[in-house]
Amino acid sequence: MVTLGLAQIRPHIASVRENLELIENTLEQAAGRGIDVLVLPELVNSGYAFKSEEEVAASAETVGQGTASALFKDWSRLGRLIVAGICERIEDRFYNSAVAFAKGEHITTYRKIHLFGDEARWFAAGESEPPVIEFGGNRYGIMVCFDWAFPEVARILALNGAQVILHPANLVLPYCQTAMVTRSIENRIFTATANRIGNERELEFSGMSQVTDPRGEILARASETDAELLVVEIDPRLADDKNITQANDVLKDRRPELYHRLTDST
Ligand code: ACM
Repeated sequence: MVTLGLAQIRPHIASVRENLELIENTLEQAAGRGIDVLVLPELVNSGYAFKSEEEVAASAETVGQGTASALFKDWSRLGRLIVAGICERIEDRFYNSAVAFAKGEHITTYRKIHLFGDEARWFAAGESEPPVIEFGGNRYGIMVCFDWAFPEVARILALNGAQVILHPANLVLPYCQTAMVTRSIENRIFTATANRIGNERELEFSGMSQVTDPRGEILARASETDAELLVVEIDPRLADDKNITQANDVLKDRRPELYHRLTDST
C-alpha cells in the first residue's frame, strides 16, 4: 500500500517570500503524516494570475538552484517522493513545470504542454511527452492542470505504464474533477489532483482536490475553499488490471489503426 498526500493550499501572487513560507509550513505539516508520495498544486512558488513578466521572473527558479526545489529535495530525503508545480526559469525562458524529487534526488521535470488562457504570454510550452517515474516499485505519471482536457495525456501515461497520475493543478473551469473520474475509468488508473484554493485578481480557484481509483470511485475529495491535507491509502497494483469487463481490456482493445486522425496536426 502507498500513502498519498495532497496538499490543497493557497499560494500568493507576487509574494515569493510568502510562497516559500507556505511551502515550508506545508512540508512540515505533511512530514508527520506517514506520507510516501506528496503532491502540491501548480505554480506553488509564484501564484498564477501574473500581470507582468517582472512578476514571473521574480518568482521563477532554476531547478536545483532555488529555495523551493531545495525544500522539496530535503523533504524527499527520507525515502519519499514529492511532485510540485513551480514557475521554472531556464536561461531567458519560463515554464509552468512540475518537478519530482525522490530520496533526496531530482528525478524529473515535466514542462506543461497544454497552456491555459493567458499562460502562453509568460510561459514556453513543454516539448516532451509527460513522464512516468518508478518509485518504491510503483509507477507514477505526471501531468499539470489543463492537461486534463486532453485525454491523450492520461492515455499516453497509462500506455507507458503509469498506475497513478500525479496532477498538480490551479483549476478555474468547473469540469476537471468530474473529467478525472472518466480519465480513471477509461485508463483503469488512479488519479491524484492537488488543486489550489482562493482568488487571484479575476480568477477563482475551485479546490476539491481529489483522488480517484481505476473504477472511477472518488476515494477522497477536499472542500472548495479550505486549506487541507488529504491523506489516502491506495494499492497502485489495482491499476495493472485493465479489464473493464471479463472480456474487455481498455488498452488491448484499442484500434489504433483506425485512430490516425488523432495524430494528424490539422
Ligand atoms: C490551468 O491549467 N491552470 C487552468
